[in-house]
Parts: sequence; structure tokens; C-alpha cells
Amino acid sequence: MQEHVYIHPSANVSDKARIGAGTKIWINVQIRENAQIGEGCILSKDVYVDHAVHIGDRCKIQNSVSVYNGVSIGDDVFVGPNVAFTNDRVPRAFNPDWRITETRVESGASIGANATIVCGITIGEYAMVAAGSVVTKNVAPYTLVMGNPARPAGKIDKMGNRLPEGDGHEQ
Ligand SMILES: CC(C)(COP(=O)(O)OP(=O)(O)OC[C@H]1O[C@@H](n2cnc3c(N)ncnc32)[C@H](O)[C@@H]1OP(=O)(O)O)[C@@H](O)C(=O)NCCC(=O)NCCS
Repeated sequence: MQEHVYIHPSANVSDKARIGAGTKIWINVQIRENAQIGEGCILSKDVYVDHAVHIGDRCKIQNSVSVYNGVSIGDDVFVGPNVAFTNDRVPRAFNPDWRITETRVESGASIGANATIVCGITIGEYAMVAAGSVVTKNVAPYTLVMGNPARPAGKIDKMGNRLPEGDGHEQ
């Protein structure tokens, strides 16, 4: 464990997890073995980080998000409250051979509250997923998606401002 990490007394953090300096871990958070969390992150109430999950620097993971094995998160990523990640594309309780399907959230991306992320996709750099979306396909960098299923709704800049149509340059 690094120095300058705040861990609320109610949190359950494996001593085999690596947590970067300045990260704050709030009420009832659970962090499993071999998870790696970067510097300056905030993990809000009831977050669950599965074993061997990697989370970058300066991420904000909001209340009640479970980041399952197979999900990896870059730097500066925002994950809104109750976002549902998945890691089993065709779940069956009685299938003993189920396999993890990976999902990647690239640096700078944001995912709005209550979105569902169907596994096997990449959410590109600085992309934004609108609240409540169900994301079933890759999201291109600097792209806003919304709806169920989530569809591209335009390009955005680093701050999330809409760019005029046809102005797809990345900045
Ligand atoms: C997508 C978002 C960023 C707004 O983008 P915007 O460009 O300002 O969009 P607007 O508010 O102008 O809405 C544009 C259209 O998209 C629709 N829309 C907005 N948000 C939507 C959403 N989450 N899902 C589906 N449609 C949405 C609007 O109803 C509107 O539709 P219309 O053109 O038929 O009237 C915002 O709505 C959102 O979902 N933010 C995430 C909030 C959040 O979860 N924060 C987490 C921390 S609390």
C-alpha cells in the first residue's frame, strides 16, 4: 500500500491490492486481491473492484459501481453512479466453462449514471456515454453516444462540449 491513501474504516481492501498515492476509498468499498488502482482516484460509497482489475490515475468511480474482472480503465475516467459493467456476454448460471469477455475504457472517457456496458467493447478516449445508455458496440474517441442501444449522437471535445457537425477533429 502506498502512503497518503485514505481508506474509510468500513472499506475492505486486500493487502494484495496496489493503490496509488492520493487515492481516496470511501464507505463500504471492497477492493480485491491484485487490483491496481492509480494515483489521485476517488472510489465512492459501495464501489466493488474485482481481482486483478486495473484502474488508471485520477479516475472518479461513483457510488455502487462494480468493476468486474476483465474491465480495464485508463486515466482520468469518470464512471457515474450505478453504471453496470458486465464480463460474461452470454450468462448462464449453470455453465461451468464461462469465459470472461474484456472491456476497455480509454483515458478521459466518461460514462453517465445507470449506463449498462455490454462486455467486449472499447470506449474510446474522451468519449461520453449519456446517462442510462446501453452500450453494445465500440465507442469511437471523442464521440457522444446515447440511448438503448447507444448510438453516436455527435462529436465532442475534451471537456465534453459538442462540436459542430462534420467537425470531427480530435482536440
Ligand atoms: C448526454 C448529455 C451529456 C447531454 O448532452 P447535450 O448535448 O447537452 O444534450 P441535450 O440536453 O441538448 O439533449 C439533446 C437530445 O438528447 C436527448 N438526451 C439527453 N440526454 C439523454 C440521455 N441520457 N439519454 C437519451 N437521450 C438523451 C435529449 O432529450 C435531447 O433530445 P431531443 O433532441 O429529442 O430533444 C447528458 O444528457 C447526460 O446524459 N449526462 C450524463 C449525466 C450523468 O450521468 N452524470 C453522472 C454524474 S451525476
